[in-house]
Amino acid sequence: MLDTQIVSYGTDNPEELMDKFYKAGNEMLLTLRNYVVSPEKRKKPRTWGALEAAKMVKVSDPTFRKLLESNPNILGVINEESENGRKTKKYTLEAINALRDKAGTRYKRPKGSKALTIAISNLKGGVGKTETTVDLGKKIAIEGLKVLLLDFDAQGTATLISSGLIPDLELKYEDTITNVLISNPNSIESVILKTHFDGFDIIPANLAIQDCDLILPNEKENNHERLGSPFIRLTESLKIIKNQYDVILVDCGPNLGLLTLNAIIACDGIIIPIPPSMNDYSSFTMFTAALRNVFKELSSKKLEYLRILISKHSGSNEALQMENLMREQFGRYVLTNHMCETVEVPKAANEIGTIYDISKPRGSREAYRRALQHLDDVNMEIINNFKDIWDRQVKATQLSGDKHG
Ligand SMILES: Nc1ncnc2c1ncn2[C@@H]1O[C@H](COP(=O)(O)OP(=O)(O)OP(=O)(O)O)[C@@H](O)[C@H]1O
Ligand SMILES: [Mg+2]
Repeated sequence: MLDTQIVSYGTDNPEELMDKFYKAGNEMLLTLRNYVVSPEKRKKPRTWGALEAAKMVKVSDPTFRKLLESNPNILGVINEESENGRKTKKYTLEAINALRDKAGTRYKRPKGSKALTIAISNLKGGVGKTETTVDLGKKIAIEGLKVLLLDFDAQGTATLISSGLIPDLELKYEDTITNVLISNPNSIESVILKTHFDGFDIIPANLAIQDCDLILPNEKENNHERLGSPFIRLTESLKIIKNQYDVILVDCGPNLGLLTLNAIIACDGIIIPIPPSMNDYSSFTMFTAALRNVFKELSSKKLEYLRILISKHSGSNEALQMENLMREQFGRYVLTNHMCETVEVPKAANEIGTIYDISKPRGSREAYRRALQHLDDVNMEIINNFKDIWDRQVKATQLSGDKHG
């Protein structure tokens, strides 16, 4: 047999091969997105039925009907065809929020409290950072609050599942935070994108944001003289928009590069998702050493919020043992509720979204219900913690006012 007939295990032209994979991959994503979402690129808002909508508005069914009768021009009420062909009215979050405002039942962050910036971070990849960030963001929006998600990972997964946009095909360099951090922190508003979820905005990412880690350390290229330290660019730019939101979530990549450091320095709190397994535990231990060194440099930095989320819990005996160990070691810093590992997450991901985008079970009703319950429990625990922090902030300002008054 001639040598040339032997199929190579490698490639003589890795550049060409990667380019081929890259183009094929993006084309595939585009086809999938157009099939499961819509060719108009943007995801359509999900809807809720009248019973669920009334619960979300926190009024009885008759009051809900009256509210609708007295506000016939409310946006986001949609006539949808059900499985048996009957037309029923469904309600988007936009409609539900408008009805909450009319009924005066929408939770408002108390006056005198501050928006919270929370980094979702862990050195380890694949622990559920992005899933946690996007789901928490959606639940915060479902509760009627305003949330901004910053995608700080060049993989752009949070961007894809939050907006339905294909990061490397449909976003330009200047649509990402790159220029904001490198040369113009004042321009942050120009990169905010509204999503199909009312009250849930994102700053999207694609490969462009890798430039932040490459260029930010370079004094000349990135204007240290004019803009100051490269570590505080996010802190500076968030000052401009923080008041427009209740919560700002930063989905960090699996690293402690300059982008993550900007997030850690700018944030009021950190959520660390850790699956209950020995490898993830061991990696977290290294992460704590790295964080300790970061906080050593930031001697005045306090965290208003720090929680470990046990993520992707399989329910196996080994996972339960690990969970117990983590709870013993980290005590109150571990969220009471954990996120279970469930097929509902990849199912929703295949439709370019999360469980909160889906209004009907795609498989077993019971599996969907259980997954949603776990997710709601985790997110409501965190949201209730935030509400508590806001109440404490207001009390602290009142106390200091009393002292000075
Ligand atoms: N609760 C869950 N049940 C099942 N699969 C999950 C769950 N949470 C996350 N996953 C899956 O695990 C994988 C990793 O999750 P995710 O992307 O959120 O992790 P990550 O920490 O952000 O990863 P990276 O470090 O690469 O950014 C994804 O395929 C996601 O769909
Ligand atoms: Mg991620």
